[in-house]
Amino acid sequence: MNKKIIVLIVVLLVIIAGVVIALFLQKNNENQENNENNENKIVTEANNEVINNSETEGGETGMQDKKILILYFSQSGNTQTVANFIHEIVGGDLVRLETVKTYSDNYNDLLDEAQEEKNSNARPELKTNLDNIEEYDIIFLGYPNWWADMPMPVYTFLEEYDLSQKTIVPFVTSGGSGFSNTISSIREKQPNAIIEEGLSIYGSSAENSKNQVEQWINQLGF
Ligand SMILES: Cc1cc2nc3c(=O)[nH]c(=O)nc-3n(C[C@H](O)[C@H](O)[C@H](O)COP(=O)(O)O)c2cc1C
Repeated sequence: MNKKIIVLIVVLLVIIAGVVIALFLQKNNENQENNENNENKIVTEANNEVINNSETEGGETGMQDKKILILYFSQSGNTQTVANFIHEIVGGDLVRLETVKTYSDNYNDLLDEAQEEKNSNARPELKTNLDNIEEYDIIFLGYPNWWADMPMPVYTFLEEYDLSQKTIVPFVTSGGSGFSNTISSIREKQPNAIIEEGLSIYGSSAENSKNQVEQWINQLGF
């Protein structure tokens, strides 16, 4: 064979080998990049999972894994305002404790009505039905101070339902008397419940109490 042809064939073979090697190396590189991307995805997904878990299981209040009821009695809205703040902060179910009878809108008439009920140790019938109360772990229980006591419908509630082993977190609004002796009364009616440190708010400050409510909830340490 002509020497020139042999050289040409060798040169061609070298070029083909070079192209094959170059293609092989490129393919290898792509695979490696893909693998790295996949690994990153797994890490990212794993991180997300942790972040999500910490959001649902930990959180600021530590109450996320508990079933919460915020139950309140309120006639003129102050206790309801505080109940709404609690609900905004901790979530859970918000329920107004209502009676079959309606209380007077007139302040002086309401004072007389409430005093009469207290003197006769009345148990006004409840319209609110809590047949799923078993489900709850924590019950925020709010009421206004009426004549240095709880409104009588709150007694009806405490006598109709068994809150044993549940945590009761009381809150009150008042003209200045705070809880009076109502914590003892709750303890007497529900001796097997855990009663947490309550929050007392002036009725006139209810609208501006969100920070105070937040601080109190953070201090509860659930
Ligand atoms: C019938 C009645 C009795 C009250 N008795 C007291 C009391 O003994 N001490 C007190 O500090 N405030 C008393 N207050 C004021 C309420 O506790 C206060 O206005 C409360 O924030 C009302 O809550 P509500 O708007 O959720 O109904 C009384 C109010 C009413 C209507």
